[in-house]
Amino acid sequence: MKILMVCLGNICRSPLAAGILQYKADNADLGWVVESSGTSRYHIGDPPHRMSQKVALSHGIDISNQRGSQFAKEDMLTFDLIYAMDRDNYADIKRMSGELWNEEKTDLILNELYPGEDREVPDPWYGNEKDFREVFDMLDKACDALIFRLTGKEG
Ligand code: 4NP
Repeated sequence: MKILMVCLGNICRSPLAAGILQYKADNADLGWVVESSGTSRYHIGDPPHRMSQKVALSHGIDISNQRGSQFAKEDMLTFDLIYAMDRDNYADIKRMSGELWNEEKTDLILNELYPGEDREVPDPWYGNEKDFREVFDMLDKACDALIFRLTGKEG
């Protein structure tokens, strides 16, 4: 299973989401590969936001080796599942994918936790550590729900 997490900048939310899911998938021996990207070009090549790194590390997850990249339409073919953090990300993924768009494999990550509600992971870019911790907690629960739905295992 190859899974892609997508946000706008690829430095705050999606590196956290990818780090959390990869950590849980590895612990459960699932053999999954989890990556992340952004819909924008703003932070290509950059490491995750220092607050995303700090919050992840406080939970034992090291995301310091991730580097920003931009979503490319071929990702629609490469990945089995693609998760957007918010509705703008989802719309941008759809637009950028063009003829390769596949609705079946694309969803908002919080729909794993609150099916059909289209809730969004808030952008913590202008926020403080508390905002990053709230994002971590949402993603942590969503990743547990995702793993349980797909494998029946506790994350
Ligand atoms: P992210 O947050 O999409 O969660 O990575 C952002 C990071 C950077 C910017 C916006 C959102 N920016 O405008 O540079």
